[in-house]
Amino acid sequence: MPNLSYRYEKKQVDKIPIRKFDFIFSSNLDPIWIPENPARSHLFNGLSVTMPYLEPYLIKSTKASMGYISEPRLLEDIRGFCGQEAQHYRCHRKFNDLLKKKGHPKLAKVEEKLEKTYKKLLEKSLRTQLAYNAGFECMTNGLTHWLISKRVGLFRHASPTMVSFWLMHAIEEVEHKTVAYDAYMAYSGAYLPRCFGVFHGSFHVMGYAIWAMLVLLKEDKRLFSFKDALSAGKEISLAAYHMAPYLFRALLPNHNPRCEDDPKWMTDWVAGYEAMLGGKVMSGGEAMPLIDTADPQMPVPFASPSNGICHVNEIAA
Ligand SMILES: [Fe+2]
Ligand SMILES: [Fe+2]
Repeated sequence: MPNLSYRYEKKQVDKIPIRKFDFIFSSNLDPIWIPENPARSHLFNGLSVTMPYLEPYLIKSTKASMGYISEPRLLEDIRGFCGQEAQHYRCHRKFNDLLKKKGHPKLAKVEEKLEKTYKKLLEKSLRTQLAYNAGFECMTNGLTHWLISKRVGLFRHASPTMVSFWLMHAIEEVEHKTVAYDAYMAYSGAYLPRCFGVFHGSFHVMGYAIWAMLVLLKEDKRLFSFKDALSAGKEISLAAYHMAPYLFRALLPNHNPRCEDDPKWMTDWVAGYEAMLGGKVMSGGEAMPLIDTADPQMPVPFASPSNGICHVNEIAA
C-alpha cells in the first residue's frame, strides 16, 4: 500500500543516465588483478559474483513498487536505477564467466545458491524486499565512497580495465543512491522494517561475497597459511571499517541518503563523461576510456573541470 505522507525531495544529481557502456575483459586478464594482493582482488571478485543475481532481483522488486507510486520524478528515477543496474550485472556476468574459465569452476556452486536465495526473496512481501534494497544501497554508498576516496591506495598499478569498471560502477551507485530508499519510503516508510533491511541487505550480500572470495582463494591454494588467512581477514575488516559508518547512519530515524555528500572525483567523472560525449548518449556497447592506474593521483579518464586536460590513456577495445 502506498505511503500517503511520502513527498519527493530534490536529489544531488539532475538525472540518472543509462550509459550503454562496455568493458572488454581480455582472456589473459589475471584474476589477481591487484598486483601482489590476491585477497583484495578476490574480495572484489567475490562481490562481482553476487551482482548478476543481486542486481536483476533489485530491478524486479523495484519495478514492482512502480504500481504503487504516482510521483513522476520518482518513477523517472526508478527507470534510471533499473537501467544502470542492468548495465552493471551484464558486465559483471562477462567477467565472472572469465573467472570460472580461469581456474575457478567452483564458483558455479555459489551461483546456484545465489539464484535460489534471490528467487526466495522475491516471494517475500514487497515491503521486506524494498527495505532490503534500501539497506543494501546504503551499504553500497559506503563501499563506493571508500573505493573513490582511497582509489590510489587500493588500486595503484592494478588492471586499468578492472579499476575503471569498478569505479564506474561506484559512480553510478552514487548517482542512484536515493532511489531504493525513496521507493521504500513511497511504498511504506515504516521505520523498524527499514532498520531490519539495513542488516538484511548488507549482511546477506556481503556473506555471499565473502563465501565466493574464500572459494576463489581456496582454489588458488592461498587460504591455508596463517599469512594468507590474516591477509583475507585484513581485507574484509578494511571493507567493514569503511562501510560501517554508513550502516549506522542508515539506522537513524531521520536518515536520508541525500545527507551523504557526493565525492568530488565522482562529479568530475560525470562532467568529464558528458563533455566527452558532447550531449550525446552512448548508443550501445561502446568501450569506456580507462583510468591510468600508474598515475599517483588516478584522475578521471576525461578532461574535467579540475584536471583541465584529457587523461584518456587507453581505450578498452
Ligand atoms: Fe549496481
Ligand atoms: Fe545500486
